[in-house]
Amino acid sequence: MTAAAAEKIPPAMPSFLDGLRPEALGAPESGIVEVMNYGRTREGMIPLWAGEGDVPTPAFITEAATRSLAAGETFYTWQRGIPDLREALARYHTNLFGKPFEPGRFFVTQSGMHALQTCVRMVAGKGDEVIVPSPVWPNFPAAIGVAGATPVMVPQIYTDAGWQLDRQRIADAVTPRTRGIFINSPSNPTGWVATPDDLAFVLDLARRHGLWIFADEIYTRFHYAGGRAPSFRDIRTPEDRIFFTDTFSKNWSMTGWRMGWIEAPPELGQTIENLVQYSTSGVAAFMQRAGIAALDRGESFVQHQIARARQGRDIVVDGLGATGKVRFAPVNGAFYLFFTVEGRPDVRRLGLEIVDDANVGLAPGTAFGPGGEGFMRLCFLRSPEQLQVATQRLVDWLGRI
Ligand SMILES: Cc1ncc(COP(=O)(O)O)c(C=O)c1O
Repeated sequence: MTAAAAEKIPPAMPSFLDGLRPEALGAPESGIVEVMNYGRTREGMIPLWAGEGDVPTPAFITEAATRSLAAGETFYTWQRGIPDLREALARYHTNLFGKPFEPGRFFVTQSGMHALQTCVRMVAGKGDEVIVPSPVWPNFPAAIGVAGATPVMVPQIYTDAGWQLDRQRIADAVTPRTRGIFINSPSNPTGWVATPDDLAFVLDLARRHGLWIFADEIYTRFHYAGGRAPSFRDIRTPEDRIFFTDTFSKNWSMTGWRMGWIEAPPELGQTIENLVQYSTSGVAAFMQRAGIAALDRGESFVQHQIARARQGRDIVVDGLGATGKVRFAPVNGAFYLFFTVEGRPDVRRLGLEIVDDANVGLAPGTAFGPGGEGFMRLCFLRSPEQLQVATQRLVDWLGRI
């Protein structure tokens, strides 16, 4: 190139990305989205990759929202949640756990994700660590990273008999920088359910080291031994440092609404109110009216969801199990089958192959952190008819490979 030509080349533009905080730049892309983008427009695709069912929100819930809108509830509202919803949350928990709950413990958020993020922001920042057993729903460690803290991943122990908390490694992971420990039981993606002993172990560890427990028990109703799953609420005392983060998404088929809640010591109320003010400034009142309908009148719908999930679990477990080509631990809770395919450890490629060859959408286990390598996740909260077809397609495909 001549000197004159070189002069005409403009200097390299600084990248916009150079101006971003490393925590924002480092936020990981979802490992599930790659497969979804690959397969979402395929004709006849049965999508079992996301954590949701196929039933829209029932009318008694949506009608509560439209009534509220028609009545003009369209103004700014309470940051902690409207009093009626906080009372409904207290009633719901009182019924579910068989002991009294105060409305002052509940704070309405813009989704379970926002509940988690709000709690992480209260206790963990630059230089801090939070212990996270994995495989795990990836949004939690990502939220810790975005807050500038470090998720310390501790793989669970896997055998065909089930997933287990690696208590020794969890205890060994505590350092002077540890601020908390995340426990998601029943687990997305593994279906593991913490035993009362596991919970007692974590609570004892937290008490001894002054840690916060982030208790994500959103799948507690999906517990196949019957009733709800064991909970930190069974064993905690008022002094324990526990955040419960929860959501309307799963029990009441409201994933698209983006509404959840935190249960936390009332003493944190002002701080939570402030964090809500400076993030979402509160959840729309008409959505909160829908939340009250869900909590107060949704029990038979929840029972229907649980029965459907149980039926779905049996269809996929029986169908895939009979092939002898996949392995999985018993699914004790939540609504996912987490399985390996014999001789196929590269699950990123496998997800794409299953789209091409079976027209079924599954999520690769690598999206769920250490311990998820080699696994695929299948969501079985779907109509039995579709699950029968999807299972048959997978069985046929397994027969060909
Ligand atoms: C374990 C777990 N926690 C929390 C959530 C948050 O749900 P949402 O943000 O839809 O309220 C999900 C959603 O998949 C989840 O699987």
